[in-house]
Order: sequence, then C-alpha cells, then structure tokens
Amino acid sequence: MPTTLLFELSDGIARITVNRPDKLNALNATVLSELGDAITRVETDAAVRGVILTGAGSKAFVAGADIAELAKQRPLEGKARSLLGQQVFRRLERCGKPVIAAVNGFALGGGCELAMACHIRIASEQARFGQPEVKLGIGPGYGGTARLPRLVGRGRALELLLTGAMIDAAEAYRIGLVNRVVPADKLMEEAQTMLRGILENGPLAIQACLEAVDAGMEASLDQALLLEANHFGLLSSTADMREGTRAFVEKRKPVFKGV
Ligand code: COA
Repeated sequence: MPTTLLFELSDGIARITVNRPDKLNALNATVLSELGDAITRVETDAAVRGVILTGAGSKAFVAGADIAELAKQRPLEGKARSLLGQQVFRRLERCGKPVIAAVNGFALGGGCELAMACHIRIASEQARFGQPEVKLGIGPGYGGTARLPRLVGRGRALELLLTGAMIDAAEAYRIGLVNRVVPADKLMEEAQTMLRGILENGPLAIQACLEAVDAGMEASLDQALLLEANHFGLLSSTADMREGTRAFVEKRKPVFKGV
C-alpha cells in the first residue's frame, strides 16, 4: 500500500493525490517511487481510462522536490535523482491516457514540473507557480528547463527560471502555463467534467492525439504531418471510426469500444 499517495478509481477515472500535506506534498524518494507504481497501474489497468492528479490539503499541489533530501545529495546522487524524476514524469506524459493536473495550491519546482508533464492543467484561483530552484543554488531537475519554454516560450520561461519568482494563477493562465482557472471549490468538479467529456470520445483517437502531439512536437513539420496521416489511416481501420461516423449520420450518440 502506498504511504504518500492516494489512488482512487471511480468510473474509469483514477484520482491520484500526492499525500504529504504536512510537507506541502514535497516529492521525496518515496513519493517518486509510489508515483512510478501508480503510473504502471495507469498504463496497464484497462479499467483506468484517464487520470486527475492533485495534491492533498488546501495549500499545495506539490511544493517541489524535498529540499531536506536535496540538501544531503552529492553530484552523482543529484544526477541520479534528476534522471529518475525525469523518467517518472516522462512515463506519465506518455502513459497513453489523458492526464489532467488539478493544481490546488503551490506548484513550485518539481510541482510545476509535474503539472507540466500532465497533458492539461486546471488551476484553482489559489494556485501559485514557479521554478524557484535558483534561489537554492540549484537548477530544475525534473524537466523545467525543457518543458517550460515549450509551453510558454523561451523568454517567459527564462524569466521564471532565472528570477525564481512565483506567479499567481491569473498570470499562469495569461502566459499559457495553465488551460483554465476556476474557484477553489470548483476545481475537482471542473477537472472531472473535462475528463468525462474527453472520455466520451473514441479512446483510440485520444491515444493517437496524445502520441502525435508528443512525438510531433519534437519532429520536423513534415515528419509530424506524416505521423498524423499514418494515425489517420490507421484509425480508419477501427470499428470505433465506423461507429463514430455512422452515429453522426444516424443522428445518435456513438458507442465506442476501443477497437
Ligand atoms: N521540501 C521539503 N519540505 C518542504 C518543502 C519542500 N520543497 N516545501 C515546504 N516544505 C515543508 C516546510 O519545511 C514545512 O515543514 P515543517 O512544518 O516541518 O517546518 C512545511 O512544509 C510547511 O511549509 P512552510 O514553509 O512552513 O509553509 P509557508 O506557507 O510558510 O511557505 C512555501 C510555503 C511554498 C512558500 C514554502 O514552503 C517554500 O518556499 N517551499 C519551498 C519551495 C521550493 O523552493 N521548491 C523547489 C524545491 S527544488
């Protein structure tokens, strides 16, 4: 049984809650390991169709890597910690099922990086974002220098990375770091409504979109377009595509089976 994570599955939606509220859900080695296990379940359990990731308590999503652990690390341990965290977050990003971060409070350092590894971010009005690592004399280790410029552009990313400044949810929305901002008491409802809407669509098509954007963003335009065309062709062989198009013609809701 995990000790630092809650994993609740209901109606195809896995709600994963980082659960160390007394330490503002900071990512220590146990959290990372248990997050890795939770991702394995997401990847392999067909009953899981989508994920909402959040933090326990009202104050923090995740306030970063555990600074008490960082304080003790030597260079090779630091590199290993960074590579491990990067690998866990990358697996989340490539799990093949939609993942929404419900950012309920501080998302700093590793917390901001974890939110960025999710496919969509919905923030409560109380959320705060930042990459304050430079204030500790270290840099981001879980993908901040790689994903932040991809999400918000190089100049804005460098401003956040170099100043270590914290921004509020409205500013995060303005620069494109989050998709939506909602009142705190509506956060989970909004995340669930969005995810349920996504899950009504063809699951193979959802998976193809996730893969095409993930691989396509790193490819040339021509390679990305070819990947899209290959998916388009492949999806045309599925029963779900027949069902989706037939349901439109017959003016009814499609029933997708993921085949
Ligand atoms: N790692 C380990 N412990 C952390 C933590 C982190 N990243 N962030 C917060 N905590 C712990 C605090 O040490 C404190 O523990 P204690 O009660 O045993 O002393 C507890 O969580 C509450 O935090 P506190 O600092 O008292 O809350 P606050 O409301 O005064 O401040 C923050 C909130 C987020 C501004 C502040 O906790 C903070 O700056 N955290 C570090 C953020 C950071 O630099 N993250 C990047 C790490 S690479």
